[in-house]
Amino acid sequence: MKEIIKNIKGTKDILPNEVAIWQYVEDKIHLFFQKYGYHQIRTPKFENTSLFNRSIGLDTDIVNKEMYSWTDQGGNNLTLKPEVTASVVRSFIQHNLGKINSINKLYYIDSLFRRERPQKGRFRQFEQFGIEALGSDYPEIDAEIISMAYYLYDSFKIKSLKLKINSIGSKNTRLNYKKELKDYLINYKNDLSSISQNRLNSNPLRILDTKIDFEKEIIKDAPKIINYLDSDDKSHFEELLMLLDTMNIQYEIDHNLVRGLDYYTKTVFEIHSDILGSQAALCGGGRYDYLVEELGGDPTPAIGFAAGMERLILSLDAQKNDIFKKPFIYFITLGNGAIKASAKIINSLRIKQNLTVISNSLRKNLKAQMKEANKLNVSYVIILGDDEIKNNSAIIKDMDSGNQESVNLQNIEDFFKKPH
Ligand code: HAM
Repeated sequence: MKEIIKNIKGTKDILPNEVAIWQYVEDKIHLFFQKYGYHQIRTPKFENTSLFNRSIGLDTDIVNKEMYSWTDQGGNNLTLKPEVTASVVRSFIQHNLGKINSINKLYYIDSLFRRERPQKGRFRQFEQFGIEALGSDYPEIDAEIISMAYYLYDSFKIKSLKLKINSIGSKNTRLNYKKELKDYLINYKNDLSSISQNRLNSNPLRILDTKIDFEKEIIKDAPKIINYLDSDDKSHFEELLMLLDTMNIQYEIDHNLVRGLDYYTKTVFEIHSDILGSQAALCGGGRYDYLVEELGGDPTPAIGFAAGMERLILSLDAQKNDIFKKPFIYFITLGNGAIKASAKIINSLRIKQNLTVISNSLRKNLKAQMKEANKLNVSYVIILGDDEIKNNSAIIKDMDSGNQESVNLQNIEDFFKKPH
């Protein structure tokens, strides 16, 4: 038996019959972000491993166990990009973008790689779109970013959106809070999972994010970071919430939302939907005011979010049929004379009139070509055979009504100029 090579677990082919929805979604995303004045940035698919170690953090799931890293033939330690924020910040510093514009509003659509356990909406290669705004520490930019995430999903008519928001404060706030949280959790040390026991010392905030039921019970009475915010953190958060209220965006303050990457500070948020269940977020983001500085740039406050394209498309399942645009014309040719005569007409319908015209190219009989046209669900079929050539005409069949008429070859273009 011949051995067939298959795709890698956690990756997938997007086949021609699925691609329409991807193109539809991508087109809408470009237009949506551009409407807010954001410009696309494209960064390489792989970077130095140290970039992700230093930004996402050594004690995170991504860096610890999910990165596709290798040493190349030149001895360089490289990693396939597991997220985009770090690359955007690297590029921002390297190209002095902060000197060119005092605020940089950027967006991206990119392929990313994380060695996670594949499941619904979770892959090892996935597409992510997102935005990053670098340069402002005012709450109105937080509100802009969150509203863009919210209204993007709303524009796709995704129901039951749940915006979860929290502030994890500035560095000092977190330092004080970490101590309080650790003092509380230490009482339950033996009840915690081994992962959480390890995190107790390294990163106790991540325990708040637990998906384990008995840990959730313990967390219920834990001190809440919101009560430890300093006055600056507090007024930033209050102003942000006020702006969201003004925009009529409903939110839920989730005291346990901390996010899984180390660079966050102050605002963090996620949007969930019933379709994906509570474990998987449609998107997530937050402030990272120290990351530019930590990676060697001038201090630059920043905020952004990113979202999985597969999760958005999964949520669009019910609308798929409306989105798929059916091809307009199927041109049936029967015999050499018809093939020759059709070339000019098809060309001008496509090029001059910008219509989608499918031709058979396999010289099949009328029945087989008609079957194909039905399968493609086209609006019109044009039939050109020897008899029609003799009469200098073609048959045009309206596939919705079933009506057909004979049209002079010279008048076919005009026929499709009428509104249909
Ligand atoms: P993240 O929460 O790691 O954040 O990922 C953001 C989104 O990417 C998730 O909410 C999810 O929709 C999608 N995603 C993540 N992992 C997978 C996967 N294995 N398969 C499919 N989809 C996935 C970040 O990446 C941050 N860089 C977001 C950010 C931008 N923060 C500030 N700016």
